[in-house]
Amino acid sequence: MPGIKHIAVIGAGVMGPGIAISFARHGFPVALADIDPAALERASKSINSMACLFDDSPTPGKGGRKAIAARISLTSSIEEAAGKADFIVEAVKEELTVKSRVFADLEKVCPPHAILASNSSTLSIDNIVEKISHKERTILTHFVNPPEVMPIVEVARGSATSDEKFADTVNLIQLIGKKAIICDKVVPGYLVNSFNMAIMGAALDFLGREVATLEEIDSAFTQGLGPRLSVMGPFKTMDLIGLDLIWQAVLSFDPNAHNDPRATRLRELVQAGHFGMKTGKGFYDYGGRSRDEVMQEIDRQLLDIVSNRPAGTRGGTHTHGIQ
Ligand SMILES: NC(=O)c1ccc[n+]([C@@H]2O[C@H](COP(=O)([O-])OP(=O)(O)OC[C@H]3O[C@@H](n4cnc5c(N)ncnc54)[C@H](O)[C@@H]3O)[C@@H](O)[C@H]2O)c1
Repeated sequence: MPGIKHIAVIGAGVMGPGIAISFARHGFPVALADIDPAALERASKSINSMACLFDDSPTPGKGGRKAIAARISLTSSIEEAAGKADFIVEAVKEELTVKSRVFADLEKVCPPHAILASNSSTLSIDNIVEKISHKERTILTHFVNPPEVMPIVEVARGSATSDEKFADTVNLIQLIGKKAIICDKVVPGYLVNSFNMAIMGAALDFLGREVATLEEIDSAFTQGLGPRLSVMGPFKTMDLIGLDLIWQAVLSFDPNAHNDPRATRLRELVQAGHFGMKTGKGFYDYGGRSRDEVMQEIDRQLLDIVSNRPAGTRGGTHTHGIQ
């Protein structure tokens, strides 16, 4: 992208180093800033350790650990980091006053064309930038943890974000090999965290009621829903299960669902006889393919995933913070 050459990431805690790597491994010089020297020290170690992943990675990138680490400079000065940055990701702690102050500081020191993005998980970009002058260049880019490997970034524009800055942001995300998931409305937690909170809430509920051990609950997810959800989102899953059955299940949980506007789309499809893969159409249109043909493709993807999982994988051993 001709206009965006230098990146700054503000905040070197859990997310900052991985966000910096995401840009650096695609050739961008990145300045990573934090007010806490101990955080910078930890970040330097994390970058060296995480960037090893790309030493012999088959995914396209621009070099392994050494090249990636060489492109990331660490600093305790926001001014130094943002002074010549074309794109800035704020990843400081999730507090409105702290973020607002960082945006106000950034506006004073960054070039006038720079895009200011927040990595906030739950706050509205409109609230974060309320006191700054040039809101048209502000946007939300929510990287998913661990950002150095996860392939999506949620993007939400503020009410003042310009079309140009929005398009530049989406292009940049594509350029670093990630998919931009566009959220048209601001909802606290956006998509990924909203799903995550529902899942974590259910897990805590099952544990609290002693329905199963936490290892069994984790396994139900990693070995049951996990593989399936990695090839099918909730809508395709409903098409797989059968929308007639889903509608019955919805009614058994809530007999008033006939009047629930959230169920309108599902209700209409069922009334029209579109039950999903078994009728050739549901939330998705299967283009004349039979259920067997669709299932063959899904089974192949699933088999690939489950047969490549390490033997004996239970609840998952990697802990990487929340989303
Ligand atoms: N942790 C996650 O899994 C996750 C996932 C997605 C998004 N997020 C979002 O990313 C942001 C950062 O989260 P985190 O978990 O990395 O936080 P964190 O607390 O681990 O790190 C925040 C860092 O910001 C630094 N900081 C605070 N004020 C600063 C300032 N004025 N200038 C420069 N640095 C400053 C702190 O010293 C700290 O190192 C939050 O908005 C959070 O909601 C977090």
